[in-house]
Amino acid sequence: MSGSDINLAISGLPFPMYFITTMDEDGKSNIMTGCYFCQASEKPPMIVIAVHPSRYTHEIIKKTGEFVINGILADPTWKKHAEYCGSHSGRDVDKLSQINLETEPANKVKPPLIKNAHTNLECKVVESHEVGGHTIFIAEVIAARTNYKKPLIHYYGDLVNL
Ligand SMILES: Cc1cc2nc3c(=O)[nH]c(=O)nc-3n(C[C@H](O)[C@H](O)[C@H](O)COP(=O)(O)O)c2cc1C
Repeated sequence: MSGSDINLAISGLPFPMYFITTMDEDGKSNIMTGCYFCQASEKPPMIVIAVHPSRYTHEIIKKTGEFVINGILADPTWKKHAEYCGSHSGRDVDKLSQINLETEPANKVKPPLIKNAHTNLECKVVESHEVGGHTIFIAEVIAARTNYKKPLIHYYGDLVNL
């Protein structure tokens, strides 16, 4: 099997689609689409995400140690926003002002929550490691909420409704 065949096989195990929200040291928020995600521990609740070093999000998380995971809804408008936030950088454009998703303050971290996301996880980085081309951030979830709405899923390279 070639590398691309192996990656195709991996993508047959569905990933959840989410927005990572961050806040830079000047208080400006950014939003990025992500799908590499794994739960790492229950007690304490910990998760792992993988972010490429080229992302502006990577730079902000490295500096602040905080981010929020916002679960993307199975909804055509949210899917359009996922594509936009996954193909534009916060270095070039204020993505949150270009899309009509509402934000609200988080309880325990500085980055905002995306309102009506099916899940919001407020995360503090515990460790980070460079792995292959990406950096994995291992983070403790210090506050969370969920509303049980249907998620958008990454499956064989497509964004599909659960
Ligand atoms: C469906 C989809 C999933 C993505 N998942 C990830 C991911 O898990 N990790 C990552 O580093 N980039 C991922 N990306 C790419 C980033 O979202 C993209 O490079 C974005 O423009 C980075 O924004 P930023 O520079 O504002 O942080 C994904 C893009 C799409 C469209």
